[in-house]
Parts: sequence; structure tokens; C-alpha cells
Amino acid sequence: LAKDLILSFETSCDETSVAVIENGDTILSNIVATQIKSHQRFGGVVPEVASRHHIEQITSCINDALTQAKVTYSDLSAVAVTYGPGLVGALLIGVTAAKAVAWAHHLPLIPVNHLAGHIYAARLVEPIEFPAMALVVSGGHTELVYMPKENRFEIIGETRDDAAGEAYDKIGRVLGINYPAGKQVDEMAHKGHDTFHFPRAMDQDDNFDFSFSGLKTAFINTVHHADQIHETLNKDDLAASFQQAVIDVLADKTKRALQDYPVKQLILGGGVAANKGLRNRLEKELQAFPKTSLELVPLSLCGDNAAMIGAAGEMLYRHRVFTNATLNADPSLEF
Ligand code: KG4
Ligand code: ZN
Repeated sequence: LAKDLILSFETSCDETSVAVIENGDTILSNIVATQIKSHQRFGGVVPEVASRHHIEQITSCINDALTQAKVTYSDLSAVAVTYGPGLVGALLIGVTAAKAVAWAHHLPLIPVNHLAGHIYAARLVEPIEFPAMALVVSGGHTELVYMPKENRFEIIGETRDDAAGEAYDKIGRVLGINYPAGKQVDEMAHKGHDTFHFPRAMDQDDNFDFSFSGLKTAFINTVHHADQIHETLNKDDLAASFQQAVIDVLADKTKRALQDYPVKQLILGGGVAANKGLRNRLEKELQAFPKTSLELVPLSLCGDNAAMIGAAGEMLYRHRVFTNATLNADPSLEF
């Protein structure tokens, strides 16, 4: 069987990443140049700063990805790139670089949705079996996606306001944690207890949607009120209480989605999928669904990376889903 080699690009937010993926499931290289340090002093990603970093990093990322994979341009089958959703200026750098490589080397160009990438990251560990359900939780998204078959994405639930990761980053700021706060809040949560019982918004509603802005506000009000009366709250307990509320809602809605949509696999992907509490909880919940296997994207592939874009891109490659030099970045791209 001929192998296909895909050079993939991801620049939708604050990681410049280029990868070489073989047959859609094997990582030959996955270069990730993070810009987190440059954004930290602003407390979040500054779009203009992100674009500039992508421009500075992209060429060396391409060279490193090819070198590490021990391949040259002539070995490649296609080029895949994230064209949305994300920051428009950031996306444009990857899209432009991918177009240039595809044009110069006469390669097909594959347009990839960033969220499909977070889901298809799972196939870098094990083949995806359909029907499947994906819980995609990141800094920009919180979605329950039903996939009846390959390349079909039906959003059955999503956040009505803040994304889960966004909530982590915002309450992290109140706790004095650097952006992005998710990982550290997760670690603190394991040392604390749910003593504050923050609200679980929409938990009992008969839908699969989420809302995290009320939880964020409740958290911030609690901390500010304590400040005013010069009371010191236990930060680990605050983190644990916040995390428990997030996990309860994510787990309850996912459980209900699995009841309505029997699937072979539940895929957990996106930056927040690195959350230890969430991973443990879903493992427990899945015991009640013996016909559904839990596919946890490995920690190293939960955050933004180009390997996942190559994994999703190869699936499109087999379906001959190609674009051309007219491809534009689409910051609010939907499935
Ligand atoms: O997928 P990602 O790298 O970028 C987006 O597409 O948004 O997700 C980044 C988000 C950030 O909000 C970060 O705080 C969160 O993922 N995150 C976590 C953890 N690790 C990263 N949230 C909770 N627990 C973690 N362990
Ligand atoms: Zn992402």
C-alpha cells in the first residue's frame, strides 16, 4: 500500500506548528513553537502579536518538520492547513504559507477545520470508529459533536457564552495565575475541596448546551467579596470548587448525549481535554456505557498542534477534498 505523507500547518491562535503525518495516523514530526511567553504579560493572546510571531517562526517550523521527518518536498502527497475558526491574522499566515508550498511543489491543498483537528487527533492513537461522539473543550470552544460517519459533524450542543478554557483562564487571572491558567488551576484543584458549591448552569436543562459565564461571575464575586471584608479564602478550595462545577456540567451533558446517541467511541479533545479531573470523571462515567470506548487524546496532543491537522487532513485527502489558491482564512468557520 502506497503511503501518503502530508505536510500540515496550524496557526489559528498562539502556537505556530508544522507537522509531517504518514497515512493519517503516524507522526513523523510535529514542531510546535509556542508564543505563550509573549502574551503572558498581557493576560491573554494579543492577535497582532500572534500574527507577527507566526511570520517569524513559520519558515523554520517548516524546515524543522521536514528535517525531523527525514523527508523532502518531493516525498509529500499533499499540504493541509487550518483555515478556521481562529484569529484571522494568525490563520492567514498558515494559509499563505501552505498555499505557497502547495503551489511551488504542485501539491494538492487540503482545507482543515481546527475543531475537526482536535477531534481527529484521536486517530493518532487509535482508528476512529463510527458513529462517534466528541466533546471538544478548548480556549475558544465547548461543543458536543455527533459524528454518524466519517467527515460528518453535527453539533448537538455548545456553549452559549464563555468556552470552558476561557473560564479557566479568566478565573485563573483572579487567582493570580499566568495565562493560560488551565493546567495550574487543575493542579490546585487536586489539593482542594469543593467547599464553595458554585452554580452548575443549565445542568438540568433538557438540551446539550453549556454556559460558563455565570460560574465565572459567581467565582469572581466570591473572591471580591472576601477581599472587601479582608477575609482570605483558600485558593486550592476555590480552584477545586470551580473545577468541580465545570466537570459536573461537562460530564452530565455528555452522559445524556450518550444516552440519546449510542456511539462506539467518545472522543475527548481540545486544550481542556488535558484536564486530569475531567479525564478521570469521564472514565468513571463511561463504565455505564459498556458499548462505548473512551478515546482520550494524549496530553501532548490536546493543545493546538499541526499533527492533529494532518490527521484530519489525511481523511479529507482520501475523500479528495481539495481547495486552491483562492482559499481564505475564515475566523468564524463552522462545520
Ligand atoms: O485547544 P487549545 O490549545 O487552544 C484553543 O484552541 O483554544 O486550548 C487552550 C485552553 C486554554 O484555555 C487553557 O487554559 C486550557 O486549554 N487548558 C486546560 C488545561 N490545560 C490547558 N484547562 C483545564 N485543565 C487543564 N489541565
Ligand atoms: Zn484549539
